[in-house]
Order: sequence, then C-alpha cells, then structure tokens
Amino acid sequence: MKIMATIDLTLNIWRQKDNDSLGEFEIYQLNNISTDSSFLEMLDVLNEKLTREGKIPVAFDHDCREGICGMCGAVIDGVAHGPEKATTLCQLHMRNFSTGDTLVIEPFRSRAFPVKRDLMIDRSAFDRIIQSGGYVSTNTGGAIDGNSILIPSDKAELAMDAAACIGCGACVASCPNGAAMLFTGAKISQLCLLPQGAPERHSRALAMIDAMDKEGFGNCSNAKECEAVCPKSISIRNIARLNREYAKAAFLSETKK
Ligand code: FES
Repeated sequence: MKIMATIDLTLNIWRQKDNDSLGEFEIYQLNNISTDSSFLEMLDVLNEKLTREGKIPVAFDHDCREGICGMCGAVIDGVAHGPEKATTLCQLHMRNFSTGDTLVIEPFRSRAFPVKRDLMIDRSAFDRIIQSGGYVSTNTGGAIDGNSILIPSDKAELAMDAAACIGCGACVASCPNGAAMLFTGAKISQLCLLPQGAPERHSRALAMIDAMDKEGFGNCSNAKECEAVCPKSISIRNIARLNREYAKAAFLSETKK
C-alpha cells in the first residue's frame, strides 16, 4: 500500500485588489499538502480552506495546467515559475519543497504587466506585439503540398525551437530591465527562419520592435536571466537574431528614403 507523503508549509502570498490598490503579503499556514500535487493544486487547496473560512481566495491565472498555454506564472522565492528548471508553475510539483519551508509567492512584476488581482497579471501587451506583425499574410486557396517548399532541417529545427515559446512572461519578470526581447525574438525567429515568413521579415521586425518599445518594455543587456527561467528553454540566440533582423530592416528602410 502506497502511503501519501505530505508536507506543511507557510505561504507568504502577495495580495492586491487591483492595479490601483496597494498590495501586501499575507501569511497562511497550510498543512498535509500531498507531495504529488502540483503548485496550482496546492493553491486550490488553500483557496478551498479560505472559502470555508469566509475569506477571499487567492486569484491566480491558469488554463491548460499542462505547460502549454502560458497562462500560469508566479515568482516563488524570487524565481519566476519556481525552483525547477524548464518547468511552468502548473507543472511544478510539491515534492520540490520540504516540510517547514516558508514560500514567498508574488506575481510577475513589470511596468508592462499590470496586476489584475493577487497573482494575476495583464499580459495583453504581448498580444499587441503579436498583432503588430507576428503573423504571415497569405493568399487563401487550395492547400498546397507540404513538400512543395523545401526547408533545410537545421532551419526548421531552429524555427520550431523558437515556436516553443508559450508567451508566459517569465522572461520579462526576471529581466532587470523588464525586457520582452526573448519573447519578441522567439516570435520573430519562428517566422523569419521559414520561407513562408521571409517576405514580410523586414516590416515585421520594425513593427514588432516598435510595438515592444511602445508597451514600455526595456532593452536587453545580456543578463541572461530570461533564458535561465524560461520554461521552454528558449535561447537568447533569438535575441541576437532579433537584433540582426532589426538592423537589416532599419538599414534598408533608410536606404529607400
Ligand atoms: S496553466 Fe497552461 S502553461 Fe500553466
């Protein structure tokens, strides 16, 4: 018979009504947490307890709980998505912690990500960067044969690695400059590396970087914190590619004037 291992934790959680209100940490004691549960399941248990006690549950974002959608995220003891490398918060398991631990849990903090409530943030700045150019304009018509455009496998691999970005925002939260260059670099890379995305590569680079700046994100200074916390291990080589794409696009637009 398997005996369920449990731990007792002290949770120091950021509570904030909305972006216009001041927030503060509140302390909760939570006992008998299954080490098999995920971090979000642990927060579910806390919220059931708070609801039973007539208190307001902790707001946090989630959707797939499978590490795919990019909705979850919080800073645990100063690390975006917590201590397990290449893991989203929803895939982080309580076996990574020990009984008696005190965890400090905060939202992703950035000027461009206003706090909606407690651990929930507004990531719509990322949506607006994508809307500015993170797409391929195609003429509709019959589906063409998948093999009619040959793509070298190394290019395809690099594009697919960049496309693994789920847009969670951990890169922004961990960057000392609040930069969104890993996110934007991944989105620019996944398109410009493939022939379908090449025709719009210059206008895309100019538009997406302009949108990134307008949203109030900072610039990369090679701290590499973004790469360290990225749950999908997106490489900062994508930031170098973003800079090259932007430099080429800016040069060409100047020479056309
Ligand atoms: S809830 Fe979808 S990635 Fe975590």
